[in-house]
Amino acid sequence: MSNGLDISKAIEIAPGIFWVGFADPGAGFHCNPYILNDGDETVFLDPGSVPHFPIVLGKVVKVADLKNIRYIVAHHQDPDLCSAIPRFEELVTGVGGELRICTHTRASVLINHYGTRSDFYRVDANDWKLTLKSGRTLRFIFTPFLHFPGAFMTYDEQSKILFSSDIFGGLSFDWNLYANEHYAEAMKAFHENYMPSNRIIRHAMDKLDGLDISMIAPQHGSIIRKEEVRRYIDILKNLECGEDLF
Ligand SMILES: [Fe+2]
Ligand SMILES: [Fe+2]
Repeated sequence: MSNGLDISKAIEIAPGIFWVGFADPGAGFHCNPYILNDGDETVFLDPGSVPHFPIVLGKVVKVADLKNIRYIVAHHQDPDLCSAIPRFEELVTGVGGELRICTHTRASVLINHYGTRSDFYRVDANDWKLTLKSGRTLRFIFTPFLHFPGAFMTYDEQSKILFSSDIFGGLSFDWNLYANEHYAEAMKAFHENYMPSNRIIRHAMDKLDGLDISMIAPQHGSIIRKEEVRRYIDILKNLECGEDLF
């Protein structure tokens, strides 16, 4: 349980949007894959790793039809979010689905090495957005070198959720699905160790000025609710990390 939530199940964090991660009580490093259902199209964000695959799959099939998974968003090429992609591809294509992997060109040349077969939807070659059949638009926000040259975040214009991937992630053995009063420390610990410098983080945070964000859903750590969004952005704007700490 996480603050009364049954995290052994998929959790609906907004209408049609589900957290489908593996809450490992022994881990300080949690991964958060998300499903976004839009009519008969499903977007699967940062699907996760091979060891987490059975648990994530069990949750995905409870909230989405595999053949409807049209897009996998891979915010960068790391194994904690990409290594299960070939397994999901096999299942989706096995039931007659067709999917594409949304990522940056620089990440695509590395994701290939997991043995993926789907076509890529290159966010940098598609005006940094993806419009679903319904007209719903996902906007991609480029966050270079956080922590990969082609890293980006996804902003869903409908729900106003920012899927931030590694940015706003946290490291903690005291994990909750939603950020608690200790989350600033968990987030700092992650960024100090994984992000390159304050100057580079600040460049990305400045892109969030004026953006109406209902929630930040990172790929690690905890979800940040609307009332805390600006406070956490300010923490990162002012955080020294990476080379600042040499
Ligand atoms: Fe990463
Ligand atoms: Fe990650």
